[in-house]
Amino acid sequence: MNKFYITTPIYYVNDRPHIGHAYTTVAADILARWHKKQGESVFFLTGTDEHGAKVAEAAQKAGQSPKDFCDVKAQDFKKAWELLSVKYDNFIRTTDPAHEVATQQALQTMFDKGFIYKGDYEGLYCQGCEQYLTPDDLVDGKCPDHRTEPQLIKEDSYFFKLSHFEKELEKRILGDELKIEPKERKNEVLSFIRSGLKDISISRKNVKWGVPLPFDKDHTTYVWVDAFLNYLTGLGWQGSGVGDLKYWPPDIQLMAKDILRVHSTIWTGMLLALDIPLPKRMFVHGFFTFNGQKMSKSLGNVIWPEQLVEKYGADASRYLLLSSTSLGHDGDISWDKMTEKYNADLANGLGNLVSRVFNIIEKNFDGKVKAQAANIDIVKEMEEFRLSDALEKIKAKIDWANKKIDETKIWDLVKSDKAQAAEVLGELLGVIIAAGECLQSFMPQTAAKILAAAKAEKIIKGEGIFPRIK
Ligand code: MSP
Repeated sequence: MNKFYITTPIYYVNDRPHIGHAYTTVAADILARWHKKQGESVFFLTGTDEHGAKVAEAAQKAGQSPKDFCDVKAQDFKKAWELLSVKYDNFIRTTDPAHEVATQQALQTMFDKGFIYKGDYEGLYCQGCEQYLTPDDLVDGKCPDHRTEPQLIKEDSYFFKLSHFEKELEKRILGDELKIEPKERKNEVLSFIRSGLKDISISRKNVKWGVPLPFDKDHTTYVWVDAFLNYLTGLGWQGSGVGDLKYWPPDIQLMAKDILRVHSTIWTGMLLALDIPLPKRMFVHGFFTFNGQKMSKSLGNVIWPEQLVEKYGADASRYLLLSSTSLGHDGDISWDKMTEKYNADLANGLGNLVSRVFNIIEKNFDGKVKAQAANIDIVKEMEEFRLSDALEKIKAKIDWANKKIDETKIWDLVKSDKAQAAEVLGELLGVIIAAGECLQSFMPQTAAKILAAAKAEKIIKGEGIFPRIK
């Protein structure tokens, strides 16, 4: 049986889950469900990133200990995923004791192998990114993502010999041993690597909220190094050897473009240092903007998953998130656009088709019409992670079926030629079943409802599935 291991980034707990996080997580859930349906043995990992200066500061502001703060915030993420019907196989927290122990073991191994050494560091640190920036990264002296001035940090620090892995990483990525998609992103990473990889600082002396280095307890581990290892510890890894980890390596790691560079260099470099196979693929999606603007708490234009679910329900929210933009590219959303799409695709599209077809069958054929076999082939789209294209294809078939009802004037046809009407309805019922099957990964509850009703011995109209929304 093929295995399929899929990961999302682990999210910082200083933030509340918003629809940017939901987008990645729901996409991963859809892919996980799809691969399960193909008969593969699937493991889907998500979780929270809980150490570092940023989280410590947020906890302090909230007047809580970092651990208490993280306990509450991790729950917020779990609740959001539950609301959106996300079914992960494990939710890893970097404060899990087993994760911390394995992280220390991995650091010790890299240290013993000579890939970690002590030095002095001076650099510009952006706490929002939890990353050092170079002067070239800055716009008007500020971090372009967080619009804040980075701090100048000067302290002794341990370094990871990332430069040592430059050529090997270039080779693996160029040859697609580690595939980075979409292609533009691969080229970006390659040119970044070719511009020269520098050794990176992997410890902090003045940040107490972190995993202590096993070989120098005055330092804590750089939060990204700790975070990356979640992809291993989330499978139960204890700090060395991956031989008995059934799901390793990841078949796909999903993330947005903001964190590709660190994943494709630091994370992969650590794996080479630890002698562990690299992930097979990183798939990078774009950024959501809201009404044309970057979503941010200070601009007050953030959409929270619970608002989405309250308005549209879980399944429609999943549909709207994934159909609003093509997975590899940036996309803009707004309440108006989402409501319009909900009404067009779900209320007038799928919902209307199902209720009209079921209604006529119930009224004229005593609920019994033989469905004809139909197929909507979305395999290629799903394999290439083109989730919005898959939804488009399903929608096109639904539109076709709705049009067929109008064109054949089915209500008249039932009276004038019942046999012919049964033929058309059989075809339409087949389309409903095919759409239901394709939608199982996207809208699990709705698809189950549609399939059960369409395959029932006696079809009844039932309640509408997607009421129109203003
Ligand atoms: N903790 C790190 C990741 C460590 S992984 C070893 C981190 N966390 S984060 O909370 O900032 O999450 C970043 C990720 O959240 C993005 O890569 C993306 O998956 C998702 N998104 C956050 N905002 C987003 C949008 N506005 N649009 C699309 N995705 C967004 O970085």
